[in-house]
Amino acid sequence: MKQLKVGVIGSGFIADHHLLSYKQLPNVEIAGVASILKDQAIALMKKHDIDTKLFQDYNDLLALDCDAISICLPNFLHEQVAIDVLGAGSHALVEKPLARNVEEGQRMLDAERESGKRIFYCENNMYAPTFAKVKEVIKEGAIGEIYMGRGREHHSGPHSAWFYDKEKAGGGALIDLGIHDIACLVWYLDCDVTSVFCQAKTVRPDRGKFGTCQVEDNAIGILYFENDAQVVIEESWTAPGGYDMRFELYGTAGQIKVAPTFTNLISVYSETGYGYAVEKASSTKGWTFPVPAEAWNFGYPQEIAHFMECIEKDSKPLTGGAYGFKILSIVDALYESAKTGRLTQVHA
Ligand SMILES: NC(=O)c1ccc[n+]([C@@H]2O[C@H](COP(=O)([O-])OP(=O)(O)OC[C@H]3O[C@@H](n4cnc5c(N)ncnc54)[C@H](O)[C@@H]3O)[C@@H](O)[C@H]2O)c1
Repeated sequence: MKQLKVGVIGSGFIADHHLLSYKQLPNVEIAGVASILKDQAIALMKKHDIDTKLFQDYNDLLALDCDAISICLPNFLHEQVAIDVLGAGSHALVEKPLARNVEEGQRMLDAERESGKRIFYCENNMYAPTFAKVKEVIKEGAIGEIYMGRGREHHSGPHSAWFYDKEKAGGGALIDLGIHDIACLVWYLDCDVTSVFCQAKTVRPDRGKFGTCQVEDNAIGILYFENDAQVVIEESWTAPGGYDMRFELYGTAGQIKVAPTFTNLISVYSETGYGYAVEKASSTKGWTFPVPAEAWNFGYPQEIAHFMECIEKDSKPLTGGAYGFKILSIVDALYESAKTGRLTQVHA
């Protein structure tokens, strides 16, 4: 097994999952972490019992000659940091969305091509066991040709102020949550989206300590696929109770419904509450549906393990930079439709 050296830039929510996932791989050395938030990074390293170099400037981490670097930063930093990582000779693991818009995404793909290194696009849902099982069933032909469907991701809203800032995030619930749904749907239908229609609105502009929500916190879209299928997506940052994600897919020979959260695999009724149920659940009192082994269920360790294997074996990832770009192109078209009120063609 080839030894791989990796670094992580950022120390927030998703850096936590990347570090947890790297820690599980015996052939991976975490050579360093870079974060502008030193205390947060120290706490995270302590949580995962990681004794490694800590930098405030990510350029110092780039100098370590890592095989791969995880970019766990707000969306507005993806383009520049990815270009720097690739330019330094490391592969870049870029969190979803690839970037704020297709212009940024295109420059990242150009840098990928010029560098000879690769972008690995972090779309964890495609590595989640439930969603992967759905793909397996579809691939066997179990439901025939999909002609209609529905994808949904709902929760009460993100955990950091930058998500609500148009300049820093690029958009709201659509680019943050819809991007997951679209990635899985394109994978499931195995054909391109040709046009889209979208309506977006901001239902709860006052976000307390996070300030004003400058982006849409709710969006409904219709994706029209090359095979004539029409699929609805529903994305919300105003739904309390925890992370709700689900798909319904209707085919000529059957149907599939999947929901890795909000299912009754485990149902708990508690008058006192307990520690933790699922991401973004603000309470554990009353009826709750805790998700066992959440990181595993959401596919994070499997995603990182897959990318490391692709580096080791020089094989093609399920989700590379080009896939991230394709999904971002669909999101861009949805935003265009929400702005104009018209059906919009997708140019990928
Ligand atoms: N795959 C998923 O399900 C998933 C879940 C959450 C977040 N994400 C993605 O991961 C990325 C990071 O999100 P997060 O939830 O970890 O955010 P976060 O706010 O929890 O953490 C962001 C981190 O970025 C760093 N940072 C913040 N501002 C910076 C700045 N101006 N300059 C340099 N560094 C800065 C800090 O170290 C901070 O810890 C986003 O692109 C987000 O869309 C993906």
